[in-house]
Amino acid sequence: YDPKTAQSSTSDKNSFAFVSARDRWPTIITGAIDDVHKAVSKETNTEKQEEGKRITQAIAALKYEMQHDRQLTPLPDDGQPDIARYNQELQQRGNPHWHDVAWLYAECYLYRRLSTIFSLSTHWKGYDVFSKQKMSTFRSSRPAVLELAARYNDLTSQLQSDHSSLAQASDSEREKAEEMLFIEMSEICLWGNATDLSLLTNLSYEDIQKLQGSESRKANEDKILVNDFHAAFACLKKAQKSGAGERRVDIVLDNAGFEVFVDLLLAGYLLQSGLATHIVLHPKNIPWFVSDVVPKDFSDLLNVLLNAKSFYETPSEDDQARGITPQSLSDTDAKNLHALFENWSTLYAEGKILLRPNLFWTEGGSYWRMPKTAPSLYEDLQTSELVIFKGDLNYRKLTADALWDPATPFTEAIGPLGPGSGVRVLALRTCKADVVVGLPKGKDEELGGPGSAGGGKEMGGKREWAWSGKWAVVSLCDGKA
Ligand code: F6P
Ligand code: MG
Repeated sequence: YDPKTAQSSTSDKNSFAFVSARDRWPTIITGAIDDVHKAVSKETNTEKQEEGKRITQAIAALKYEMQHDRQLTPLPDDGQPDIARYNQELQQRGNPHWHDVAWLYAECYLYRRLSTIFSLSTHWKGYDVFSKQKMSTFRSSRPAVLELAARYNDLTSQLQSDHSSLAQASDSEREKAEEMLFIEMSEICLWGNATDLSLLTNLSYEDIQKLQGSESRKANEDKILVNDFHAAFACLKKAQKSGAGERRVDIVLDNAGFEVFVDLLLAGYLLQSGLATHIVLHPKNIPWFVSDVVPKDFSDLLNVLLNAKSFYETPSEDDQARGITPQSLSDTDAKNLHALFENWSTLYAEGKILLRPNLFWTEGGSYWRMPKTAPSLYEDLQTSELVIFKGDLNYRKLTADALWDPATPFTEAIGPLGPGSGVRVLALRTCKADVVVGLPKGKDEELGGPGSAGGGKEMGGKREWAWSGKWAVVSLCDGKA
């Protein structure tokens, strides 16, 4: 149940896989070593400290193996059932080397291997090496967070009031307004994905802040190469009009911090506008691709909203090192963040927002395998009105990270989750990898892709335009049609 088309490989000199295996991953691992090293030096329990040192050595060994193009070794058994599947696949793939292996499998293996180092320890179980990094980027998204909190609260009061212009509009005017708001919220959610820590080597903080502001969102609309927002709204509206009692939207989450903050804005809008009655969020079970959401990231985010003044006004380690005193938070901003906290915790307490982790999301295979290897998850998603897959990795997994011609229809590239699957798939993805589908014929060449006469060929046939996170695709496949 994998596609016949070959997958992107770390041996392909023209691919982002090549760059990832040689430059990006070692940098990420070095960051993880530094993080544990710092945590160890602050530790007072000597047993924990000693074990922490052994953990840094184990991570350093992983880095060495990768940089010296050693074979991937079987994962040690930490008691979870996915380990056997990882190891079986490793064998089926012929025990490959780091620099000549399917990109998708190897990158998943990398994060799973890292997690075994902690899960097999006594004192460091559940430790998230990326947690501090996630929080500090969230802090640096402050201007956009404050702008969006104010906008959301304003919208909430309009949706709740009987006297607002929205409440008094005619049905068709109201529907138009709802669609505009749906698109606005979804676009915020889409570009929120540019805040991915594993790509920070490419995008500067300044780039990120630009992508987060409302003006730049408008300016970036023509960067959305495939745009199915209108069709996605039509599905939700149709379900609402059908009078169905329970209408669920699922969000297969990607990154923590700013991105999950905006995912919650969309979730809240869908619930408060009546476009959905329940939202199911799917986080990861283990620290994943640096910035992905684990359940604890939710409580951390809610805590920030609750204690916003102390979060934003207490100098971070970085501020202290640079002698910076953070700007104080105005009372209005603090109130807005507190109102958000109240709103989201109420929706959560009422059971309208649910968290549903599943081991499947951190396995090494693509989503082509879901109906066979995770049948209960698959059946669950079939009962949802719309399943939103956030971000680049989810898109790579939907399309099996295969070397499709970019003009291949999205419906074909997602295989078993395509037409007739019973799952309505909506991918919101900023492009950060080679795979891309559903483009009009010739678009890839126009952007300088491998087949182009200009840039592409000179650069040796690379699809570099698709690596930067500056372009996006919003693709819908109505598997219920
Ligand atoms: O492209 C770099 C990369 O690490 C990919 O390997 C991965 O697909 C992606 O970034 C993670 O991005 P996202 O958080 O959007 O899934
Ligand atoms: Mg991610």
